[in-house]
Amino acid sequence: MSEKCKKVYITTPIYYVNDVPHIGHAYTTIIADTLARYSRLVGYDVFFLTGTDEHGQKIEQAAKARGKTPQEYADEISARFKNLWDEFEISYDKFIRTTDENHMKGVQKAFEIMYDNGDIYKDVYRGHYCVSCETFFTDTQLIDEEFCPDCGKSTTIVEEESYFFRLSNYETKLLEWYESAPECILPKSKRNEVINFVKNGLEDLSITRTSFDWGVKLPEKLGDPKHVMYVWLDALMNYVTALGYGTDEAKMAYWPAKIHLIGKDILRFHAIYWPAFLMSLGLELPHHVAAHGWWTRNGEKMSKSKGNVVDPKEIADAYGLENFRYFMLREVPFGQDGDFSQRALIDRINSDLGNDLGNLLNRIIGMSGKYFDYNIDSGGVKTYHAEELAEAEAVFARVEPYLYEVQTNRYLEELWKSLRIANKAIDTAMPWAKMKEGKKEEAMATIALVANILAKTAVLLHPFMPKTTDTIAKALGFVISTENYRKLVKEQALLEAFTIEKIPPLFPRIEEPLVATPQEKRDETAKAEEKKAAAKKEKEQTSKEASGANLITIDQFFQTQLKVGTVVEAEEVPKSKKLLKLRVDLGEEKPRQIVAGIKEWYGPADLVGTQVCVVANLKPAKLMGLLSEGMILAAKDDEGLCLIRPEKPKKPGSSIG
Ligand code: ME8
Ligand code: MG
Repeated sequence: MSEKCKKVYITTPIYYVNDVPHIGHAYTTIIADTLARYSRLVGYDVFFLTGTDEHGQKIEQAAKARGKTPQEYADEISARFKNLWDEFEISYDKFIRTTDENHMKGVQKAFEIMYDNGDIYKDVYRGHYCVSCETFFTDTQLIDEEFCPDCGKSTTIVEEESYFFRLSNYETKLLEWYESAPECILPKSKRNEVINFVKNGLEDLSITRTSFDWGVKLPEKLGDPKHVMYVWLDALMNYVTALGYGTDEAKMAYWPAKIHLIGKDILRFHAIYWPAFLMSLGLELPHHVAAHGWWTRNGEKMSKSKGNVVDPKEIADAYGLENFRYFMLREVPFGQDGDFSQRALIDRINSDLGNDLGNLLNRIIGMSGKYFDYNIDSGGVKTYHAEELAEAEAVFARVEPYLYEVQTNRYLEELWKSLRIANKAIDTAMPWAKMKEGKKEEAMATIALVANILAKTAVLLHPFMPKTTDTIAKALGFVISTENYRKLVKEQALLEAFTIEKIPPLFPRIEEPLVATPQEKRDETAKAEEKKAAAKKEKEQTSKEASGANLITIDQFFQTQLKVGTVVEAEEVPKSKKLLKLRVDLGEEKPRQIVAGIKEWYGPADLVGTQVCVVANLKPAKLMGLLSEGMILAAKDDEGLCLIRPEKPKKPGSSIG
């Protein structure tokens, strides 16, 4: 982010409403929020956009599976995103939904312009489509001629009339852009990836579909009502329709975007398709497209089907929203993947926040109270601590450029050096000794030095931890504002005489993880099961020895939880002769994924909607890389296998026994 610009437009991706928010979504939004808050602090005129992406086949299918209309379903999930951002005090200026009337009008307008200028033509699309990724693939891109190279799911073959965007015409222009704007893609290391992709050749892009309805219709003048727009064209356009493109264009003054924040999964769309669309529309290109890495759990990508999703609200409620923000922004280098663990979060809170920041504040609160009745004057700082002050000012001058490249981790790492300077100054100067020697002025100077370093640090930390730093500022008798940013950071002024206010410790120590995440909950169950199994074995052994027969007690039988479940989804496991992947509703919050070796006897269509009996407390296991969270009961003899089913339909989750 260059310093000259007055208007700053910052965006997050618009999130698909097929999934509820998890920490990955929170991460993108929190980075964007931090940049927006920083830009406001510096004094820029900021427009910060977020929202939801609500059209497309994936959403249509997700709604259908829940017996809802796409609109009802989109309303519900969109509200969950919006509510979470409100609870997280995300400082967005607009929350856009792609089902907004003005957005749809703007998209139609854009289509019309691209059509009129010859960038759109009609033809037939033949190829493969991954519904899950809402992406078209060529034969050569597929894995084993069928599977999506991005998500591994099976693709469908599509042959339908389609409008195409002449992406191939933009190859050279795109390459010129990457060349002329070296920072257009962040982190810079990602730029080469994009350049290579484009150099391999771009095919024209199919931008309409006829096989479903849930999307923006083409402009009426084309007279082609069976087409809806490809969801990515619709979605990308949000960045300009949010500013009124095609309707009321007053806010278009914020265009071009300073930065589009995204995850690395959608870089191609933002670094290739989007600038090509913009060129076709004669609009300026964004300054930066910045792609962060994945949050993983134990090295695995987080996903609903794996059941390893971390709920950002649960974490923020337990550990404090701003501590959670600090952790996310400090823990991983921008662009790289990071593994989420509560241990790492606790370490950051106890060490960086508690020891380095919180204790420093406590130290000067204590000393200023004891020696000076909380009244501090910065008068002696330059006399007694010129060197330390200069060192700290050098840190403050150094941190900001990191943020222009979204290197929040480097920014915070550097900023923390100022706290080290302050802590060291106290240890070396020993104000308590100075007081004993009657050198009051020197003791005061040290306390004032530290207070000033803390004040400036708080200002620069404000975009990351707004409330916490407001509290620190209040304790130091000032407020964080653009004016004080200018004075304290840019002009390197010191606080005037002020009174320190005693406040309770900001970062109480945390010893143990506070939240049982789904994975941990399962790990715990698994551990308990193991213990039980061991105990059972021992008992069996003793009873066998006693009776000589292989009998179990009723208690032993009831250690197995048997339940009735309804199969809600079934599909073949690619490349496996035996396995089917089922989703079975056991009356719990989410259906379970169960991988069963029954493909020789049952097909997916035989199963969906029928009931089965499930061992519900079996330790989860992986079959061909797929998590299986239970076992289905079946009987097998020479003639084959059949499933054990309840005689009459029973409520999912009914217990058997
Ligand atoms: O792609 N770690 O929406 P989406 C980090 N609608 N970030 C993650 C993450 C993870 N495990 N999982 C998701 C779409 N994200 C489109 C975007 S924009 C015009 C249209 C974040 O709901 C990351 O920023 O799948 C990723 O790009 C975004 O969520 C995708 O959200
Ligand atoms: Mg996604």
